[in-house]
Amino acid sequence: MKSFTRKSIVSTILIGSVVAGSAFTTLPFTKVMNPVASAASSSFTQFLHDNAPGRTIKTSGGLATVTNLSSTVVLVNKKRNLPSTYAPQDLVVPNIPFSFSGSSPKKQMRKVAATAIENLFAAAKKDGIDIKAVSGYRSYATQKSIFDRNASIKGEAVANKTSARPGQSEHQTGLAMDISSASAGYDLQQSFGNTKEGKWLKANAHKYGFIIRYGKDQEKLTGYSYEPWHVRYVGVYIAGEITSQNLTLEQYLERAK
Ligand code: DAL
Ligand code: ZN
Repeated sequence: MKSFTRKSIVSTILIGSVVAGSAFTTLPFTKVMNPVASAASSSFTQFLHDNAPGRTIKTSGGLATVTNLSSTVVLVNKKRNLPSTYAPQDLVVPNIPFSFSGSSPKKQMRKVAATAIENLFAAAKKDGIDIKAVSGYRSYATQKSIFDRNASIKGEAVANKTSARPGQSEHQTGLAMDISSASAGYDLQQSFGNTKEGKWLKANAHKYGFIIRYGKDQEKLTGYSYEPWHVRYVGVYIAGEITSQNLTLEQYLERAK
C-alpha cells in the first residue's frame, strides 16, 4: 500500500501544488530537484490522479459504485457506494481504550488506520486527554440495520443527515472510527466538539493521518451534519492539507485531479 508522509514529499509538493497537473514532471525546473524527492512527488501526483473521483466510479444498474475500494483515499458518500459484498481484508483490533468491553467487529479498523489510531491515542494520553473509541468497522448489513432503525425512530429525512445508508458509510471501509469521552457521556453528540477532548481531537487528528470527515459548516458539501467524533484515515500528508485548508475530502480529491 502506498503511504505518503509529509517528510518524504513536502518539498516537492510545495512546487507540485503550484504546477499541479500532468505537466508537472516535464517542467524545466524539476531538473534541479533532488531525484528522490522528484520521484516521490511524481508518484504522489500519480496516486492522486489514479484516485480522482471521476476515475474511480462505475455505474451499473443505476448504482454508482467506487472502484478503488482498498485505497486509503477511497471516497464514499451519498453518490458513491461500496459494493454490498465489500469487506476489507486486513481488519485488526487496535490496541486502544474502547467505551465498551468485550469483543465486537466494531472494534476493528484496517491495519494502516489501526496503527495510526494507536499513535493518536498514545499522543492524547501523553497530553492528559482521556478519549475512548466507540465504533469502527461496520459491515453493509450492520449499517443497513442502523440506518433502518434510525429512519424508523427519527424519520428518513433526519436519519439521512446523521446516518449513512448501507454501502455509503465510511465505517464499511475500515478507515473510520467514532471517538468520544467521559465528559460527553461517550455519546456521539455534537456537544463532544465543545469538550476539551473534542477540541484536542480537532486540533491533533491530522498529525496522525486523520481528518474530521463531516466538519462544522460543511453540511451542504458532505450531506451530513457536523460529526466532531468521526475521524477518517487518509494519511498524514493529505490530512494536514485538508485540515489546514478546511476542505472536505470531496474538495481535496476533486482539486487534485
Ligand atoms: N454517521 C456516518 C455518516 C455514518 O453513518 O457512516
Ligand atoms: Zn462515524
